[in-house]
Amino acid sequence: MSDPNFSAAFRQDLDKLFEWRRDVRHFRTDPVPEHILEDLLHTACRAPSVGLSEPWRFVRVESPQRRAGIRNNFARSNALALDGRNGDDAQRYASLKLAGLDEAPHHIAVFCDTNPVQGRGLGRATMPETTTWSAVMAIYTFWLSAAAQGIGLGWVSILDPDDAASVLSVEPDWQFLAYLCVGYPKQHASTPELERQGWEQRNPARRRWIYR
Ligand SMILES: Cc1cc2nc3c(=O)[nH]c(=O)nc-3n(C[C@H](O)[C@H](O)[C@H](O)COP(=O)(O)O)c2cc1C
Repeated sequence: MSDPNFSAAFRQDLDKLFEWRRDVRHFRTDPVPEHILEDLLHTACRAPSVGLSEPWRFVRVESPQRRAGIRNNFARSNALALDGRNGDDAQRYASLKLAGLDEAPHHIAVFCDTNPVQGRGLGRATMPETTTWSAVMAIYTFWLSAAAQGIGLGWVSILDPDDAASVLSVEPDWQFLAYLCVGYPKQHASTPELERQGWEQRNPARRRWIYR
């Protein structure tokens, strides 16, 4: 196979993709065509994984009852998270995510098979968490390729993981990683919504580099 030889124009576009990929909290309700969603899931499964274990498991949550179960989980977890915090910011943050759960046409829960047969244990002896990291890389791969098609993703982690696994009837070894709201964003932005809302701000990258 020959070198793909990516062009300068492609690299510029890729940089733009990193700049414009966002965690989305407000969605249009029209669905993403099924073939596009499936393409994104195929792409996600191209992520690197420890020992080539491919431990990611994507659960497409379509049943209204299961969605309601997750929404109830969120409501309870959110109430706990907000307990003792009475700032406006806390309320605003929470309600924004709820909007995504109600509006997004597609819901995908992501789990990691923490003990996969595939990969034959390679690379996991001293760091078993590497399966989790592999599955998170698949999420980011999905996220970026969705953004490249103008499709938004909102990551919900304010959930009780055991209850989420039970609502979705998954295997006992599967670790809950993320609940993803997916659909077309109501708006696009090149800065995080939490930054725009004054919740938090990004730092110059150099501040995170350390030399020894
Ligand atoms: C592991 C992980 C968990 C997250 N969980 C939540 C969440 O529960 N609620 C939320 O509003 N955003 C959540 N986010 C999104 C972040 O708030 C968002 O990525 C961050 O504000 C930066 O914005 P950007 O992704 O648009 O650059 C999560 C992101 C990651 C990577």
